[in-house]
Amino acid sequence: MPAPVSERILGIESSCDETAAAVVQDAESVLSSVVASQMSTHGKYGGVVPELASREHLRAIVPVVREALSRSGTALGELAAIAVTVGPGLVGSLLVGLTYAKSLSFATGVPLIGVNHLEGHIHAVVLETRREGHPVEYPAVALVVSGGHTHLFEVGEGFQYRLLGRTRDDAAGEAFDKVAKLLGFGYPGGPVIDALAPFGDPSAVRFSFAKMKGNARDFSFSGLKTAVLRWVEAHDMAAEIDARRARLRVSPPPAIHDWLPLTPQRTLDLLASFQQAVITQLLTRAARSAEDIRARTLIVSGGVACNAGLRAAAKSANLPYPVYFPSIALSTDNAAMIAAAAFPKLDRREFSGLDIAAQANLTLA
Ligand code: KG4
Ligand code: ZN
Repeated sequence: MPAPVSERILGIESSCDETAAAVVQDAESVLSSVVASQMSTHGKYGGVVPELASREHLRAIVPVVREALSRSGTALGELAAIAVTVGPGLVGSLLVGLTYAKSLSFATGVPLIGVNHLEGHIHAVVLETRREGHPVEYPAVALVVSGGHTHLFEVGEGFQYRLLGRTRDDAAGEAFDKVAKLLGFGYPGGPVIDALAPFGDPSAVRFSFAKMKGNARDFSFSGLKTAVLRWVEAHDMAAEIDARRARLRVSPPPAIHDWLPLTPQRTLDLLASFQQAVITQLLTRAARSAEDIRARTLIVSGGVACNAGLRAAAKSANLPYPVYFPSIALSTDNAAMIAAAAFPKLDRREFSGLDIAAQANLTLA
């Protein structure tokens, strides 16, 4: 019997503030994954500045794609497809990756496959669990939780999606970012709060749990953010916040041992309690959704899936089905997940035309 032919897909991702390219083989081997982060550009503004993001993508796209191809030892002509994020995201950022992918496809004749960024996040887990020999079983619930999204999807066999719940206001990652900014910890907020939370008491500050009218699987984080703001206003924290903001202006950027002496116990307790409230809301809604659809797997993906407290809580919840997180490198934005999501479309010969448009508000279901 002839050996099955290996197929390689080049993935390109530029929907937000990471320019990324990767080559994935046979939906499970990441031959290369290159991510150029714009953190240092946006950090000083306390969030992503769309105009700067587009400019940085333009600067990075050619070398990043070239690096991904060369690290994987792949020539353009050997590719089975070029996969690219078409949305959702910042339109100026999406356009850079999409236009470059189209021109590569046009020049080489390699087919183009447009990918939804959220489907990419889900496929980060599909790829890794497959490689590790314990593939996702369907139906699954996917919690996609990042700076821009907090969504619960039902994932059916053959990658059929149904929206089960979503945030009514801020995304969970956005809540981390806003609380960190308010308290003088800079951007992005998730990693700092995650690292400081273990030093605080998560039961010190009681945040009331948002009760949702309508879909009980929906999320809301803006009330929590406002509760932190009220707490800060009531506790005379201006001096410590100013001290941390001053530290942000000094090089090198602060690490955890720099933050600890600048963060009183009361504030560590606040951070731990805030993080706990986010985790509880995420896991409660995800578990309820999994129960509702009798899910056989729970997938958690997106930047917030890096959170150590969330990972630990998911483990200790002892849910009656496996809960899978991606490795840290594939949790935040990357292009391996975009290439991975394109494999089922390659099998179905679902190619995109060169007229495919960037869609800032693209939905998955
Ligand atoms: O998936 P991602 O890289 O980009 C988007 O598609 O948004 O996610 C970035 C988000 C940011 O809001 C960041 O604060 C959050 O993920 N994040 C975390 C952690 N690491 C990144 N949130 C909580 N804990 C973390 N360890
Ligand atoms: Zn993302």
